[in-house]
Amino acid sequence: MEIIRIPRIMQNTSRKYLQKGQSIGFVPTMGALHEGHLSLIRRARAENDIVVVSIFVNPKQFGPAEDFTAYPRDTDNDIAKVRELGIDTLFIPEASLMYPEGFATGISVGMLSGRLCGLFRAGHFMGVATVVTKLLNLVSPTRSYFGQKDFQQTVVISRMVKDLNMNVEIVVCPTVREIDGLAMSSRNRYLTLEERTGATVLYRTMTLVSAALHTGTAVAAGLKEMLQSELKREPLITAIDYASLYSPETLEELQELDGKEVLIAIAVRLGRTRLIDNLLVNLS
Ligand code: PAJ
Repeated sequence: MEIIRIPRIMQNTSRKYLQKGQSIGFVPTMGALHEGHLSLIRRARAENDIVVVSIFVNPKQFGPAEDFTAYPRDTDNDIAKVRELGIDTLFIPEASLMYPEGFATGISVGMLSGRLCGLFRAGHFMGVATVVTKLLNLVSPTRSYFGQKDFQQTVVISRMVKDLNMNVEIVVCPTVREIDGLAMSSRNRYLTLEERTGATVLYRTMTLVSAALHTGTAVAAGLKEMLQSELKREPLITAIDYASLYSPETLEELQELDGKEVLIAIAVRLGRTRLIDNLLVNLS
């Protein structure tokens, strides 16, 4: 496994793979790798000749009051984990080389960036879209793998790739959960023992609403009410940023349940930690 820290070298290395006719599977991450990340890497390993993983805690996707400095960094363990999965290249760029002085470009993916998390994290999706574009330009992957855990991110990136004719297939992989249902996340490390127990309310509540959806008699407003009241029963939840039913395509809140697919999506604060989760429910 080769570790590359310089963007230009990453680009040259990818060019060599492609010249040999090898397909490249790419998994961008911010490190502190857990089973969710590793599931994407295994899938990339199974479907491509070459696998590239990046670790870059992207400053542009954190707001000024967010956890950029506190975000877990665990590079030595990460290197051991990806080595074990038999990846070819680990790309760990320096922030100063990704964003040299004078860097001025930002990619905005319209309304899709402004909904759900976009309402609470101004500029977040512009930071994501910009860094993902840079990474895709440096790695030139055949396929790039993203987790459904960050549903809005997959919608924003898929839209951008389509709109800008980027030559890559976006593969969305299922959310990996702990045994009690909590979606794996690097931010789960912030939770105290009590908060970790309380955090199971997210998946439990979504499962409840999903079951109600399947009965076919529920109405959207009633299910939103059910989501919110179940979440409020957990006293450690200090704020509900959003919790409702959405169109998985437009991310607009559903007023009626007339589509085939419904996205249940939640973002809450549990103490000082922000947790998000979602469930895609197929009604057909
Ligand atoms: P990060 O949070 O490190 O996540 C990297 C990838 O792992 C994302 O595609 C994310 O959706 C996926 N992932 C995280 N938890 C998962 C889980 N429990 N199950 C399945 N997949 C999971 O998302 C980012 O980094 C950044 O925004 C990035 C795309 C790297 C751009 O900076």
